[in-house]
Amino acid sequence: MSREKTSIHGEWSSRLAFIIAATGSAVGLGNIWKFPYITGENGGGAFVIVYLLCVAMIGLPVMMAEVLLGKRGRSSPINTMRIIAKEGGHSRLWQLLGWLGVIAGFLILSYYSVIAGWALAYIPTLASDMFAAVNTMPQNDVADFAGSVFNNLVGDPLRLMFWHSLFMMVTITMVIGGVRGGLERAVQFMMPALFIVLLVLVGYAMNTPEFMKGLHFMFDVDFNKLFYPNGEDWSGKGLLAAMGQAFFSLSLGMGAIMVYGAYLPKQASIAQTTTAVVVADTLVAILAGLIIFPIVFSNGLEVNAGPGLVFHTLPIAFGQMPFGSVFGTLFFVLLALAAWSSAISLLEPAVAWLVETVKLSRVTATMACGVAIWLVGFATIYSFNIWSDIKPLSMLSGFENKTIFDLIDYLTSNIMLPLGGLFIAIFVAWLMKRQIVANELDTSPDTLGFRFWHFLLRYVAPIAVILIFLNAIGVLS
Ligand code: TRP
Repeated sequence: MSREKTSIHGEWSSRLAFIIAATGSAVGLGNIWKFPYITGENGGGAFVIVYLLCVAMIGLPVMMAEVLLGKRGRSSPINTMRIIAKEGGHSRLWQLLGWLGVIAGFLILSYYSVIAGWALAYIPTLASDMFAAVNTMPQNDVADFAGSVFNNLVGDPLRLMFWHSLFMMVTITMVIGGVRGGLERAVQFMMPALFIVLLVLVGYAMNTPEFMKGLHFMFDVDFNKLFYPNGEDWSGKGLLAAMGQAFFSLSLGMGAIMVYGAYLPKQASIAQTTTAVVVADTLVAILAGLIIFPIVFSNGLEVNAGPGLVFHTLPIAFGQMPFGSVFGTLFFVLLALAAWSSAISLLEPAVAWLVETVKLSRVTATMACGVAIWLVGFATIYSFNIWSDIKPLSMLSGFENKTIFDLIDYLTSNIMLPLGGLFIAIFVAWLMKRQIVANELDTSPDTLGFRFWHFLLRYVAPIAVILIFLNAIGVLS
């Protein structure tokens, strides 16, 4: 029966349109802003390997499961889970999975918009060519200069508010445009352009004095750096961060990819389309690392500079390279566009549910969610200035230094998304009938490919998620 069903919100015009939109969701600040900085914080190579393993063994199978649920349910994640659970005679509680996702999406977008605002703020900064100054100052001052430009921005709540508001306003406008109008068109030109600019930057990085040191940092696997971050005590936190990053970067575990799956044309192959998305996403993250670490080492910056890392490093490169202000401006424009194509997928599950169930118009639903998220975003803005000393969970070990922004990020990426992924895996691999699942994938339950995927989803992904959780709590240490 699912074969005839289509979504009330519309449908992608083709399989390629789905790939473009899902890649647009996956590729964003997670690849270019977050991947380099948490790789830096977690010691490099070993973290990267664990990340790649999580992408392949957990991320890809779970993404297929999420798309499959969406394609069968053809609704917002909450209703998709309700419909499919009912169809199989399972508990109504499964729709809580959709709710978990809606809440995670809210929280993620609240800070995502603030960080995307940094990218917007850097557009005029780069266009003004002020970073050309790095060519005439002593090499030792370059890092400080880039750092002070960044600190001036994040120390100024009003400026952050302005850019955060602009980002949310445009996000709301795009989501109101709906599946075909808003989402599809924007991403089409941006992804290839972003890729080209990244390649130009890799070319620049290859000519910096410490390119090889950057490579070694990213690819030399030393597990001591991951498990003994301070040299003495064993810690499972790096492992959790790698898994959380895999979920975050692939937009998994909160229904974003599920709701995009709901708009998938009937005939599209899930295995191929999701693989394309995963490969593209991973490539962009690796390219970002290849660009940023050589710049870090060549200019005496700190790898564990935290969330400001990209904003400390790249402007230096743009200051030094020919036509740097042009490339720099273009880069931050593209980064903002990449962030927008991700942001719309964070908002879409909630909007789709409000339209279906509460019967709000698309405009009202989007405005209501958007304004709420915009307000929650102020907590992140203040985390970088007037509230930077507020550490709500400082009594817990490991959380001493976490601001409100850090906590929202930790809760969503490292806990809510993997938890969502765990339940998606359990539902599809343990509760849904093999035959039904195989039908949705347009294959038979006996093919090798299906059995391998099913095995990953049934055993490998859930056990890995649970072990990594237990590890981080310290139960296994
Ligand atoms: N994956 C996006 C990025 O890397 C962010 C994102 C969009 C996301 N939709 C999501 C993260 C859903 C988690 C869940 O920038």
